[in-house]
Amino acid sequence: MKNVKLSMPNLKEARLRRKLDIETIRYRMDDKYKDLGKGKSYYIYTYGCQGNEADSEVMAGILEQAGYTFSEDPLLADVVLLNTCAVRENAEQRIWGVLGQLKGRKRENPDLIVGICGCMPQEEAATAKIIESYDVDLIFGTHNRNHLPMLLEQAYMSKCKVVEVLSTEGNILEDAPKVRQSKHKAWVTIMYGCDEFCTYCIVPYTRGRERSRQKDDIIKEVKELVEEGYKEITLLGQNVNAYGKDLNIDYTFGDLLYDLDKTGISRIRYTTSHPRDLDLKTMEAMRDCKSVMPHLHLPVQSGDNDILKIMNRKYTHEEYMAKVNKLRELVPGISLTTDIIVGFPNETEEQFIHTLDLVKEVGFEGAFTFIYSKREGTPAARMIDNVSEEEKHLRLNRLIELTNQGYLEGHKRFVGSIVKVLVDGESKNGDGMMCGYSEHNKLTHFKSDNKDLVGQIVSVKITEAKTWFQIGELCEE
Ligand code: 5AD
Ligand code: SF4
Repeated sequence: MKNVKLSMPNLKEARLRRKLDIETIRYRMDDKYKDLGKGKSYYIYTYGCQGNEADSEVMAGILEQAGYTFSEDPLLADVVLLNTCAVRENAEQRIWGVLGQLKGRKRENPDLIVGICGCMPQEEAATAKIIESYDVDLIFGTHNRNHLPMLLEQAYMSKCKVVEVLSTEGNILEDAPKVRQSKHKAWVTIMYGCDEFCTYCIVPYTRGRERSRQKDDIIKEVKELVEEGYKEITLLGQNVNAYGKDLNIDYTFGDLLYDLDKTGISRIRYTTSHPRDLDLKTMEAMRDCKSVMPHLHLPVQSGDNDILKIMNRKYTHEEYMAKVNKLRELVPGISLTTDIIVGFPNETEEQFIHTLDLVKEVGFEGAFTFIYSKREGTPAARMIDNVSEEEKHLRLNRLIELTNQGYLEGHKRFVGSIVKVLVDGESKNGDGMMCGYSEHNKLTHFKSDNKDLVGQIVSVKITEAKTWFQIGELCEE
């Protein structure tokens, strides 16, 4: 049977940045879909960044509005969605594995709908492979989750593959229902897309043009979260420091932090930052606003100026250090974490040492470290690389050894101090321990079996530092 190809991905098209107005779509589900999922259940697998987690919360909201209920067990669900990540090849490998496992399930339950969405379908080669080799009913991208009920209906009716992947600028979806994963911590997407075009990165192609939500929509969402009892928000975007640039209203990310601080939310975090766009106003807001937490994830990628240039990062080692020093001056004790790529094409031993030097200079208290992964369609994918895989792995291990010390030091400095912890729940290993994150974003365990503390901010005296967490004793209030 012929597949229904409503639109197909196109990386060339995705590279364009047109001067078109961004469309804000106010979501309202057509009444004809309200019983679409009656008596049926859904499950969503989410991979990759927090942006995908936030998108999955919206898709869950849309599905529940259409009558579907959440299935705890993915094996029993009638609709299974895979919200995918394309940032590195190993993220994609996992998804091919899950798709392979689902093959058998479709044989057992012919009515099962399997959908693949998120960043992977935005790639031409991935979508071609999914259509060719996998038993998937629905393929849609990052710009059209608001079409989900219509796409499901098409899949039920046509009984063949329904594909809708848009490669244009993207839109802004407002007023969509959400099923949030936590009752005390919430994601708040403030902008979509990325215009940076770092040469190794696929995101500007899969997520479209940088586009900011209207500030009033964001402030309204946060006020509602405060009313619902939420304690912490994390503002999300690929480069939150560019917030507002596209709106032409002389209102920047720093202004947004000052305004959100007034909503009464206890804690504000944000991710991800681009060092070039991190400005003084944002740093001042971190100093002035009690709710903005003293932790910043500031991806550096490399400590070598030539590599940074070829990566198109638009800052130098020295400029990065100047921002770090300014931050430390304005927010004493701030904890800094980062992302680092090793083995970028033709990276020399000396260039790699510059990265190690920068890690030592900053004293990062955490880092996500990656081996460079070739992404088809990006400028770096065309570079001829002379570094062996073995050498890349050796460098990664050397880097991890250093960054692990940073994690430990970051916990050691709190031993003997009292820190404020937003309690998430019982610790994974049990033993009558509970856990949560401190203001500096340190995973903290403490002895207690009082479930009522979940969602509360408590004081904990730190007694022991480990590499991945700290341990303390609950203080009597
Ligand atoms: N290879 C390896 N790591 C990558 N990242 C982005 N693209 C690639 C790639 N092609 C990393 C960067 C970024 C993080 C989210 O993923 O460090 O900050
Ligand atoms: Fe990718 Fe660079 Fe944009 Fe981050 S800033 S999403 S690394 S292109």
